[in-house]
Amino acid sequence: MSKHLVVIGDCRNMAEVEDGSVQLVVTSPPYFNVKDYGIDNIGSIDEYDVYLRAMRQVFSECYRILEDGRYCCINVSDVISGESKYPIPSHYVSILQRAGFAYRDDIVWKKPSGVGAKASGGSGKRFGTLIQNPFPMYYYPNNIYEHILIFRKGKFDFKTVSMQEKEKARIDIGEAKRRWSNDIWEMVPEIKNKYNRDTHPAMFPEELPEALIRLYTYPDETVLDPFLGSGTTTKVARQLERNSIGYEINLAYLPIIEEKAGFEGPDPDFRVIIRQNGDMHED
Ligand SMILES: C[S@@+](CC[C@H](N)C(=O)[O-])C[C@H]1O[C@@H](n2cnc3c(N)ncnc32)[C@H](O)[C@@H]1O
Repeated sequence: MSKHLVVIGDCRNMAEVEDGSVQLVVTSPPYFNVKDYGIDNIGSIDEYDVYLRAMRQVFSECYRILEDGRYCCINVSDVISGESKYPIPSHYVSILQRAGFAYRDDIVWKKPSGVGAKASGGSGKRFGTLIQNPFPMYYYPNNIYEHILIFRKGKFDFKTVSMQEKEKARIDIGEAKRRWSNDIWEMVPEIKNKYNRDTHPAMFPEELPEALIRLYTYPDETVLDPFLGSGTTTKVARQLERNSIGYEINLAYLPIIEEKAGFEGPDPDFRVIIRQNGDMHED
């Protein structure tokens, strides 16, 4: 049985997690100043430099808690706010390199045309300007992709995994060719459903953590999401028999996380820590 921990608190400090004890980080951080998550959080910081400084703290913590040789995967995109486009993915690359990570890949998550990248400031509707004004200088393309930035801490020692463990996690080659043979992955964004209609505004689709967990961990290992939101990573880790740890700053999302991950009553495999005033107590 896999074990799952949710900490309601600020992931700039992940003191509950021991050094080198996590085998994969998968996350989608709050983009700069575009979504309302209900309370003060890193996404509501309105100075870009201060936002980036906060992310530096989070990813230094991710480096500390990851085991040597393991991956940190970040779903993020540029953000358009007013007249400015913020190149957040590029800045993340420098932040993670400074934290000690090697930059390994940039997977493009391509969304079906017409869906648009709402997370980056309503940028799915930009082409409409040219339709209304079919003249030069009115061109703004719709944004239909996001990044999944892939970083690694040190080098993985393949000798640490037995052939038996490898066989248990064998990846179907037909599926891999269809879904992951190159660095453009086509995935449909999460549509509004019972979890986010009035609750969580920016979930990623389950197939995003599902792919990364299957490609970068073995069963019984631990996946951490510092920005847990509605609990997608917890749900998928549980389905794939991996342990999980998630941080979420907004207590109001806890019932959504519990419902989504299927932990609605007391369960010895599900632990919640709610930090109060910097202190910690168990639920
Ligand atoms: C893009 S959402 C993540 C959504 C998630 N991937 C899902 O599928 O539901 C980012 C989340 O980070 C949370 N957050 C923002 N600042 C935080 C912080 N300092 N510590 C922990 N969580 C934070 C927000 O409340 C929001 O729920």
